[in-house]
Amino acid sequence: MMQASAQAQPNIALVKYWGKRDVAANLPATGSISITLDSLWTRMSVNFGVADDLLIVNGVPADEMLPRVTRCLDSVAGKGRAGARVTSASNFPIAAGLASSASAFAALVVAASDAAGCGHERAELSRLAGRASGSAARSLFDGFVELAITSAGIDVTTLAGPAEWPLQVIVAVTEEAGKAVGSGDAMIRCAQTSPFYQSWVDRQDEDLAAARAAIARRDFAKLGAIAEHNCLKMHSVMWGARPPIVYWTKATLACMETVRGLQDAGHAVFFTIDAGPQVKVVCLPESAEAAQAALASTEGVRKTMQSALGIGARKVTVD
Ligand code: DP6
Repeated sequence: MMQASAQAQPNIALVKYWGKRDVAANLPATGSISITLDSLWTRMSVNFGVADDLLIVNGVPADEMLPRVTRCLDSVAGKGRAGARVTSASNFPIAAGLASSASAFAALVVAASDAAGCGHERAELSRLAGRASGSAARSLFDGFVELAITSAGIDVTTLAGPAEWPLQVIVAVTEEAGKAVGSGDAMIRCAQTSPFYQSWVDRQDEDLAAARAAIARRDFAKLGAIAEHNCLKMHSVMWGARPPIVYWTKATLACMETVRGLQDAGHAVFFTIDAGPQVKVVCLPESAEAAQAALASTEGVRKTMQSALGIGARKVTVD
């Protein structure tokens, strides 16, 4: 078989990956902990057997993203492989801090390995996805996922499955356009210029341990406190870079205020924000409806999307 398809969902980091230990190998500077989503998806189909690689994203050729896809296909199937026609579709906005590269590369490695008959195990697929985009390594796994740094590279595991602690996530989309600075370049700038970068890296193990313990005890308040703290620290590192990197907009701040209001009213919710202006709100199921309604009526919010926690990337049949 030379053709295969796969689906992956984005993941949202609660303890963030922000910085690279090795830029060439795309090895993260620290570990991270994330949740894999369920209802947002990217589907990738790979067909080996054309002369030159070709990438079609949501029906449109995407030449600027092709070199990264080509490198990823080489790493999965070897440099001597045939050319590939790769088609991708997502049900959410890409390149705006919504982890589109995570679901895209997670789905790509699964589809490419299957189409080329490589038979890679999940751990190897995760490593290959991580080389293309660090956060993508986590989208191979279900539910609460920890990416640890080891002497051999990365080690990714599920800490708790989606049914073991069924949280809900509301994504408040404030801006659908692509971002000005990609996360990879932004991380490098932070490492080179932000006076806060090294202390961010040094304190990461503490945050990972706190989040791991909160997940093991299903302690929502503790998980929320550590996730918000970790997110705000990451953005402080960016604000301290030269030139500064500010992904937030007025609407981002308005959403954060909405979350504070929900918390004051007794709802179990917390926010996190990645390399973009969107706000992701994690909640216990009983607070999801109130959170969705409050975010949807927050000024500057264009739309909201809701998702449960989901499973890692897998093969699918696409017509
Ligand atoms: C803020 O995985 O997009 O979402 O490895 O350069 O592709 P590259 O970076 P990427 O960075 C994700 C950054 C983040 C935090 C996170 O997901 O942990």
